[in-house]
Amino acid sequence: MTGRLITFEGGDGAGKSTQTARLADFLAGLGIPVLCTREPGGTAEAEAIRVLLVSGEADWDPLTEAMLHYAARREHVEKRIRPALAAGKWVISDRFYDSTVAYQCYGQGVAPEDEVALRRLAIGGLQPDLTLMLDIPVETGRERAQARQKSRYEEMNDGLHLRVRSGFLEIARREPQRVAVVDAAQDPDNVAAAVQTIVAGRFGLS
Ligand code: TMP
Repeated sequence: MTGRLITFEGGDGAGKSTQTARLADFLAGLGIPVLCTREPGGTAEAEAIRVLLVSGEADWDPLTEAMLHYAARREHVEKRIRPALAAGKWVISDRFYDSTVAYQCYGQGVAPEDEVALRRLAIGGLQPDLTLMLDIPVETGRERAQARQKSRYEEMNDGLHLRVRSGFLEIARREPQRVAVVDAAQDPDNVAAAVQTIVAGRFGLS
């Protein structure tokens, strides 16, 4: 039996890590074996790349940046996600390739066909079974994220974050069968309830 791959996506401060944990609790409560993970990261090697991309101060060329995200993603997929799916686990990832499309393509100008080529090379045809897009206005996300230390991406200008948000919404419009948009400006309990309803409906859980 193979597991399922569920991803959370959205702008900075949308509450993805909270909702990843809440969904994991919900599924575990139904007796489903769950693996929670995140990108960039999820293995020691990919976490080392994360340090370069997220906490570092380097000024990467955008395509280089996309390649580094895909290098981390390949490590994550090969060493963690595929083995977990093969063992029947439900993998919940805080970010996956839609983040590369939103941040590197819509945000930083990488050509869509280059992202498609990198994706095929790095992870073949692997796709999430379901993507939960936590949508939040840029300003609200920034206020929420204020308490924690800013990442390299959070330091980037508003123009980038506005393009990232519309990029995510465009992905959802293009792939409505895979991607569900959730209003993440609501109270976290309401977001968690909305997510549970979507997941239960999508996979026939009760
Ligand atoms: P986060 O773990 O707090 O969401 O931070 C990860 C940052 O990395 C976030 O600002 C978005 C960015 N990112 C990309 O630009 N491209 C990607 O492919 C991924 C996975 C993340």
